[in-house]
Amino acid sequence: LRQSVTSRAIAPVKDSMQPLQPQASTFKVAILGAAGGIGQPLSLLIKMSPLISALHLYDIANVKGIAADLSHCNTPAQVLDFTSPAELGNCLKGVDLVVIPAGIPRKPGMTRDDLFTINANIVKSLVAAVADHAPHAFINIISNPVNSTVPIAAEILKKKGVYDPKKLFGVTTLDVVRANTFVAQKKNLRLIDVDVPVVGGHSGITILPLLSKVRPSVTFTEEEVEELTVRIQNGGTEVVEAKAGGGSATLSMAYAAARFVESSLRALDGDGDVYECAFVQSELTDLPFFASRVKIGRKGVEAVISSDLLGLTEFEAKALEALKPELRASIEKGAKFAQKQE
Ligand code: NAD
Ligand code: LMR
Repeated sequence: LRQSVTSRAIAPVKDSMQPLQPQASTFKVAILGAAGGIGQPLSLLIKMSPLISALHLYDIANVKGIAADLSHCNTPAQVLDFTSPAELGNCLKGVDLVVIPAGIPRKPGMTRDDLFTINANIVKSLVAAVADHAPHAFINIISNPVNSTVPIAAEILKKKGVYDPKKLFGVTTLDVVRANTFVAQKKNLRLIDVDVPVVGGHSGITILPLLSKVRPSVTFTEEEVEELTVRIQNGGTEVVEAKAGGGSATLSMAYAAARFVESSLRALDGDGDVYECAFVQSELTDLPFFASRVKIGRKGVEAVISSDLLGLTEFEAKALEALKPELRASIEKGAKFAQKQE
């Protein structure tokens, strides 16, 4: 399979002095949690996309200033701000893609699951609004713990009778971005060439980089595999500790999410060659949700790429079995939480 988007950075603005002209197909995108550490740089990065005609920024904190600021960039997307739940419906009406980075981030010593109680409720209420006002939109969920918030979203959408599993994505692109960076550094490769599929989930040992499937083909010693795997699995914690109480990854996450948004929009635009890793409903393993490479098209996930799980090394096969109990428990925790809601 040719990787068109996965190994490419989002397209830069060609000439910053020339306003970009909108293309034939353009899309409306809403960011819920737009005033946050991820929301702000993500809004900036995707304001640069010529595929976006309208960018709706929503937060319970004030987003007016952020929208005013961004709206002065001479790129086509019209920026509108929405604050307070009373404005959420208008924010969502007619949007093609909803990105959800709303929620609290980790502090040192916390796991992503420690965020569950607060973020589960935030995701529940936001996804319920998406179901009511943008039932056909693609939904990209960033809020942690992704291993639980995506199953929560699925159950809420089911309750509302609008669940389309092909359109619900847990954003795990940061794991791929990290894996690409760390592998390129370790092996002295050109960053642009490197593509590492990362499967499983988005937390600790559930993050499984498949180093035997790296493109271009590259060999690692056992020590290198172990060291790289642990570093990729702990990338989030590395940033949380470095920020020392100031939150978790925001800039690299915004970069990764912008790539996933751009891929989603290219898919909506009819590009037939869009592949990304994402945490989606899946039959690839015995788990109901699983992150893997997927082909994305106009209607969402068109295919889950199963070939990455063939011919795993012994290390990868063991790691895959080892992650399943934790990932299953997180998925069930999310689903049960949502099923209990009124
Ligand atoms: P942040 O605290 O800086 O920003 C969160 C924003 O969400 C704030 O502006 C807040 O006002 C807003 N918010 C809270 N409740 C809301 C609601 N009900 N409706 C709308 N907005 C609401 O946090 P951050 O650093 O931007 O991180 C956000 C989330 O993303 C965290 O849960 C974090 O763990 C997660 N995250 C995920 C990944 C990933 O790879 N998927 C990577 C990094 C961070
Ligand atoms: C990450 O991987 O950076 C995010 O999931 C944030 C975190 O809590 O580590």
